[in-house]
Amino acid sequence: MQIDIFTGNLAQRDADCLVVGVHDGGELCAAAAALDRRAGGAISRFLKRGDFPGRLAETLLLPAAPRLKATRILLVGQGGKSVTRRNWRKALVAAVTALSRTRCASAAVALARPEPRELDDYLFGRSATEAIHAALYRVNDLKSGTKPAAPALARIALGPVRPTRAAAARRGIAHGQASGKGARLMRDLANLPGNVCTPGYLADQARALAERHPSLRVRVLEEADIRAEKMGCFLAVTQGSDQPPKFIVLEHKAKRGPRAPVVLVGKGITFDTGGISLKDPGAMDEMKFDMSGAAAVLGAMAMVAELDLPLNVVALVPTCENMPSGRAIKPGDIVTSAAGTTVEILNTDAEGRLILCDALHYARRFKPQAVVDLATLTGACVIALGMHHTGVMANDDALARELVDSGLRADDRAWQLPLTEEYGEQLKSNFADLANVAGRDGGAITAGAFLARFTKGLRWAHMDIAGSAYVGGGAKGSTGRPVALLTDFLLRRAGR
Ligand code: BES
Ligand code: MN
Ligand code: ZN
Repeated sequence: MQIDIFTGNLAQRDADCLVVGVHDGGELCAAAAALDRRAGGAISRFLKRGDFPGRLAETLLLPAAPRLKATRILLVGQGGKSVTRRNWRKALVAAVTALSRTRCASAAVALARPEPRELDDYLFGRSATEAIHAALYRVNDLKSGTKPAAPALARIALGPVRPTRAAAARRGIAHGQASGKGARLMRDLANLPGNVCTPGYLADQARALAERHPSLRVRVLEEADIRAEKMGCFLAVTQGSDQPPKFIVLEHKAKRGPRAPVVLVGKGITFDTGGISLKDPGAMDEMKFDMSGAAAVLGAMAMVAELDLPLNVVALVPTCENMPSGRAIKPGDIVTSAAGTTVEILNTDAEGRLILCDALHYARRFKPQAVVDLATLTGACVIALGMHHTGVMANDDALARELVDSGLRADDRAWQLPLTEEYGEQLKSNFADLANVAGRDGGAITAGAFLARFTKGLRWAHMDIAGSAYVGGGAKGSTGRPVALLTDFLLRRAGR
């Protein structure tokens, strides 16, 4: 999708469709009023009939009004007069969705915008572009019937933007394009079924990404290499599976900027049955999304490489299946992590923390400025925060705050949970240094506390995306979150 801004008069735009906002009660937004004057009052005469009251995210396509170059006008309900970011985004998504169902190839969009201190021109460009990508996303489905025709829409101009602010808005669009593509990559990967998206498939995707982008280097550790690294916890999880595990190391080497990289670690369980501590069958299919952390990290790397950020970034993706079998780990088994800590596996369904603890240990060799792991780690996080916020835990409050702030700017929100030492004390084992579970209470945080045991001396944050990375039910699928949050975080770390 080609996305740009426009600065001048909307009525003069040579686009297939002009898109304007209408507030509650049929009141025209500024751009719509100008258009209406130009068209001799045709829009306001129509609205007077009351057929289109301007309720948020409703749309109506009108045939062209007189004296305009465009062949159509799309009215979009924007609700009340004060335009919040959330409402603006909803209206924009509704507009793009409606456009995608027409044969319009180009559109100029002039919805009422939130106040500049809510959303400046740079963020306007970035958020709008991300929202357009999200609205146009189609699941790469495996249905055998004929597919609906691809949307004709190929060019969108956003505005009006003041000429002095055009550069900022265009920079936002460029960042939004990279972020939107990253989110799309995440969604494509996470939506694939577990029999297609295996650990080997993820490794191939990382290799393909590295081939497309000159700044990326990839290395895939095979089972023998993983054994040489003494990753006993990771190996314990994969031992019940017939699919070979992979440990993906994908590095973006910046041409300038600080040496110390940001390390992103993504949980890559391509299917989580629970293992011998088998899950209930209800909604178990959703455990194909248990590699969402890995997918988010690969999406973020695609963004970093496309923008060629002046920041070294390393992605670490431990990936395997969690299966029951005659060779699978059993409750009570004790294994030794790469860090040397012994772990009693009381519940084989708490497998994410086992693959992550070995990856976090591996991160040390990069002497990172910060380590952030992303994982669909606990059902307890979904109970605590629902789908609206990603859970953040950290051994460094400043880093946690940085991520929460990035989530606010990106409208991809996160909330910090308290990772105080009491939670770690719940992970006592009679037989090993550490147990891998600590009962139901505070389950999201005790999982974080388990990881924290492996991060001494690192500046580390953990993001539990179990609630935010995908939705179940009728609209089942990956959300692409939190790629937008990571984009903001990494852009800021890169000084952009
Ligand atoms: N992948 C799951 C967490 C999960 C659950 C994500 C539901 C999304 C929705 C994870 O591996 C898991 O099974 N966690 C257990 C931990 C428990 C055994 C301590 C859980 O949350 O039940
Ligand atoms: Mn599990
Ligand atoms: Zn899992």
